[in-house]
Parts: sequence; structure tokens; C-alpha cells
Amino acid sequence: MVSWQHALTFVNDLAFSKRGKRLGEAEIKVLEAAWGKYDYKQAADKSRYTQNYLQRTVAPKLWRFLNEELAEELGVEEKLDKNLFRSAVEQTILGDKLAPSLLDLQIGQQAVLGSQPPEVPQFLGRDAEVEALLQAIQENRCVMLSGLQGIGKTTLASMLVRKVSSEETSIFDSIIWQSAYYPLEDFVRGLMITLDLPQTDTDPKRSLQALLSSLLLHLRQESSLIVIDNLEALLKKLGDSQPDFDVFIRRVIEENHRGCFVLINRQPLDGIELLQSLGLPVFHKKVDGLDIDSSVKLLESEGISVKKNHQSIIDTFSGNPYVLKCAADKVKRFYSGNLDNIISNKTSLGSSILEESFNERFIDISLLGRLEKKVLLVLAEEASKTSEPIAFSLLMSQLNTQEITISESDLIAAIESLERVCPIEIIPSHPGNEACFTLQPTFRKYIMKNAHRIVDTSKHSSQPV
Ligand SMILES: Nc1ncnc2c1ncn2[C@@H]1O[C@H](COP(=O)(O)OP(=O)(O)OP(=O)(O)O)[C@@H](O)[C@H]1O
Ligand SMILES: [Mg+2]
Repeated sequence: MVSWQHALTFVNDLAFSKRGKRLGEAEIKVLEAAWGKYDYKQAADKSRYTQNYLQRTVAPKLWRFLNEELAEELGVEEKLDKNLFRSAVEQTILGDKLAPSLLDLQIGQQAVLGSQPPEVPQFLGRDAEVEALLQAIQENRCVMLSGLQGIGKTTLASMLVRKVSSEETSIFDSIIWQSAYYPLEDFVRGLMITLDLPQTDTDPKRSLQALLSSLLLHLRQESSLIVIDNLEALLKKLGDSQPDFDVFIRRVIEENHRGCFVLINRQPLDGIELLQSLGLPVFHKKVDGLDIDSSVKLLESEGISVKKNHQSIIDTFSGNPYVLKCAADKVKRFYSGNLDNIISNKTSLGSSILEESFNERFIDISLLGRLEKKVLLVLAEEASKTSEPIAFSLLMSQLNTQEITISESDLIAAIESLERVCPIEIIPSHPGNEACFTLQPTFRKYIMKNAHRIVDTSKHSSQPV
């Protein structure tokens, strides 16, 4: 059987390929009624639109478009109408013999607008995180998910959306999932089209802030969960538009509305924790690696048998599901499925897979200031001498023996900035013990191996130490 959610994804993609625009909320309500075989009155009862608007304004235009552009793809020779819609879509999907996992795709009772959250073929060890996020989205206007590449941010958010959409009573009037794109104006305009906000709001000449005012005004009346994935696609290009983006975020957080924006980005946004600590309705969740049990389960589900070396699995792969999957694949192809071979091998393949993902992060490292790079190098050097965490005072004295003098507050600022971009862990101070730091082992090796590049880029930096 084909689920409504799967049918919607299919028709939505088809519509997008024909007119460059996905289905709006009202159009989805019309199609949902055709799918569920109920009339426009019931469709209106289940939505925020009037029967008249759905039946007289939205439906005729939509059926005309479907007939002109999609009927052929759906194998309909006569007129495609609400009576034929379900069987035509079902037959096309089943005829295409799409992967069975896709057929099982169940988002839930409430439709997700925009692009769709990715499928979750497997979800290990993060049920508690979903529960915590479920609460956070009800209490905050902005929830940020950050974490390294492949750590599972998108998957976690997809599970959250699945959970929200399958609740008996909706927490939100609408749910949108959208990958970020540039420029910000177009992105916000796209959100408004998805929410079917009046055309006057989509005047191309309107400025970003005016568009945002309309969107937030709408969100005062109707609550919406808006997930924005891959924010880096937008952030990387901002340049001179950075102030606009900063205002966008401040307004989303500070203005009174009933929406919640879930932002997914590898790095946390600047100042987000400060806003949270000031008691503003914003919540930051740093997504860390899976625990040992889930890491082992993931490897096993990929066909790798795990006998020993549990701690080294974490040391080597950091519980990063993407890295674990790549490693499993390589172990099967080159090490006859024997994981121990790569874990015991010093030039381990596991590390090289992780390094590939650090390479991308290296771009971020090269953007760090001179002091931060220096701290990173000293930390890596000290961490290679001992398996114990590095104490604040030791780090301070090692830095001051080099030809620089730094203050405690400089060091704290540098560490805080490093924590945002690197797998560095701060063990907070408590009475009798000073703060200590650890570097994720593979990352430490990576820094040592690439020390020359880090020093080289520092030399060209014009930032004062
Ligand atoms: N909890 C989990 N259990 C099992 N597999 C997972 C889990 N979380 C993520 N994965 C798998 O790991 C891979 C990477 O996950 P995902 O795409 O969510 O990472 P990401 O943090 O969004 O990465 P990026 O920064 O590149 O967007 C995917 O193949 C996903 O299916
Ligand atoms: Mg992602």
C-alpha cells in the first residue's frame, strides 16, 4: 500500500519539476481530500481555509495544472479528477517499483510542507534526545542543532518531525522542512509561498525585513515548526549580508510569535549560547557521537562483527554514524570484515576516514586566529605526551614559554572559540580542581600531522595575538 505521505512526496516532486514550485498548503489540503475521498466541506474543517476558497479558488486551478502537466506522467488518458487521483498515483508509484523502504515512509497524520525530511532507515540511541527536543520546540522560538559532519543532526531532526507529525493532537498548525538556500530574501519568500501567505507578501521588491514582518505576523496567529537544514549553504555566502542575517535571527528569537525555527548547522551560531543564558527563548543542542552500545549496533547492522576493543572503537570513530558506516564499508571491502585489523593498525583506515571529514573542517581551522591555532597546537602536543586531560595552568605555562605572553582571559576566549569548531572537550573546574581539556584522539593526530599547515597559515594571518 502507498501511504498518503509517500504519495504527497511523489506528487510534490513532480509538481516541482514542472513548475519550479512545490504544492502550497491549500493545494495539499485539496489533494489530501481527494486521497482520503472526502469532500471540500470536510477538507475545510480539517484546515484553516474556507470551503469556498478550497473549492472555487484553489481546486479548479490545481486540477487544471495536474491535467495539463502531470496527467501523462500519471498514465491518465481521460480527465484526471479527484475520483481518479488516488488510483493513478498509486499505480504510478507501484509501477515504478520504488524501493520498499520508500513505500513504508510514514511521516504521520500531519503533512510536512516544503521539501521532505529524509528517510530514517535506522535510528540508534537517541530517543532521549528526541524527547528533549520535543519539549524544547514547544518552549522556544529557535532551536539550534550543531555538530560535526555526519554526526546525525539531520537524522535527529527528521525523527523529531516524524514524532511531531504523528502526534494525535497537533502541537503546531503546520510543519515545514526546508534546506537553506541563498539569498535569504528568496528563502524567506519561499517559506511564505509554502505557507500559502497572500501574494502581496511575495512582491519581489519587498525587503527582507518587510517579508520577515509578514511571516512573523502570520506566526502570531498560527503556530508553525520550521526546520531549516544545511544552514551552512546560506551562511557561507553571506558576506556583506551578515548583518541582515543577524537581524533575522534576533527577530525570530525576540519578537512575539508562535513559531519555532529549528536551525541545523555544523557550527553553532555566534552568540547563541549567550542569548540562551540570558533567558531568551532559544535552545542550543550540540549533537555528539553515539555511545558505545549504539556504535557497536550500527557496525553490526552493517554486517561487521565486533568482538573486542570497545573503547578503541569510540577512540577511532568518535561515535560518528557517518564515519562508522564508511568504516564498515571499507572493512568489508579491504579487511574481510575484520574490524580489529584497522583498529590495531597505527596508520588506521578508520583515522583516515575521520581525517577526510576533518579536512573540510580544516577550512574552518585555517580561519582561526593566531592565538587559537597556537593553543590548538600546544594542546595537541601536550595531549600526545599523556592520556590525562591537560590542565588549564599547564596550557597557560606552555604557551607563555613560547615567544608570546597571553592573559587568562585571552586563553579562555581562545578555548571557547576552539570548542565551536573542533572536537575539544572542556572538563569544567570544580572546587579543588582547575578546568582541563581533552582532544578527540584522531583529531589530535590530525593536528600533529598537519601542524606545518596550521603554523604556515598562522604566519600569514594579520590578526594580532
Ligand atoms: N541515530 C542514528 N542511528 C543510526 N544511523 C544514524 C543515526 N544518525 C545518523 N545516522 C546515519 O548517519 C549518516 C549521517 O547522518 P546525518 O546526515 O543525519 O548527519 P549530519 O550531521 O546531518 O551531517 P551533515 O553535517 O553532513 O549534514 C546517515 O547515513 C544516517 O542515516
Ligand atoms: Mg545534515
